[in-house]
Amino acid sequence: MEAVKVFCPATIANISCGFDVLGVALDSIGDEMVVRKTSKEGIHITKIEGQDLPMETAKNVAGVAGMALLEDIGHQGGFEIEIYKQIKAGSGIGSSAASSTGAVWAMNELLGKPYSSLELVKFAMEGERLASGVAHADNVAPALFGGFTLVRSYAPLDIIPIPSPNELYATVIHPQIEVRTADSRKILKTKITLADGIKQWGNVGGLIAGLFTADYDLIGRSLEDHIVEPIRSILIPGFNEVKSEALLAGALGCGISGSGPSIFSFSKGKQTAEQVGQAMENVYRNIGVDYEIHVSQVNSKGIKIVDRI
Ligand code: HSE
Repeated sequence: MEAVKVFCPATIANISCGFDVLGVALDSIGDEMVVRKTSKEGIHITKIEGQDLPMETAKNVAGVAGMALLEDIGHQGGFEIEIYKQIKAGSGIGSSAASSTGAVWAMNELLGKPYSSLELVKFAMEGERLASGVAHADNVAPALFGGFTLVRSYAPLDIIPIPSPNELYATVIHPQIEVRTADSRKILKTKITLADGIKQWGNVGGLIAGLFTADYDLIGRSLEDHIVEPIRSILIPGFNEVKSEALLAGALGCGISGSGPSIFSFSKGKQTAEQVGQAMENVYRNIGVDYEIHVSQVNSKGIKIVDRI
């Protein structure tokens, strides 16, 4: 096998209470990439469609993540990468993570799988470092493992796959503005109060327990964020109204997707997720904000091969 075409899923990071530690992969939104082995040394981005992103290896998240793998393995030769973006940069649904993970996952396949998913996370995190200044793993982990993931620890890296209840659907609305993750991280406080910490880790535990036991009410009750959402929501047009309308329409919970501006809701069942989507859309229609909307099941597999070339 000399080349593969892969599907790289979009992801929701943080999931309200789990800043930098929780994430989930989506089924119906994602990029495609073609990765090809070459005799030429290094990583070469040969094509990008759908977004205006740098082709230079050192400035492209796929290039940087790919180089991290190549340097580790000491491989002779290199790879060419074509990127077909569906996920907009700065949308809050893991655009950079899709590209970084797609590159290293496909390279690993073409090399005969020398690395585990956990090892690939480390390489993909270098792409996140380029994109946001911080090598966080809450988008790359679910893209690589599929489903929900918890980053229990960064040092050493410890990633726990979490099961997803069958009827859980995500609705994601993306107001058509760009929020750079680096900017939305800079506005966060670096210290939290003990009172906020207590609420937050109670909710993380509740969400994990709800996902393990398919307790939809518990999942909904746990989708609270007392630390990041109050600050970041100011950057998102109509956030409070979108959230309250989503909850009124039956969502289990609603919050900021990753670093925003996308807003996600979880619902039990596709029909409710679609109704919630209509309620969220109505808010943006009324206040004149352009948007894109997606309803998706959880992607339990993560990145996958769509074609062997
Ligand atoms: N946890 C990261 C953040 C995710 O919220 O900054 C970025 O998509």
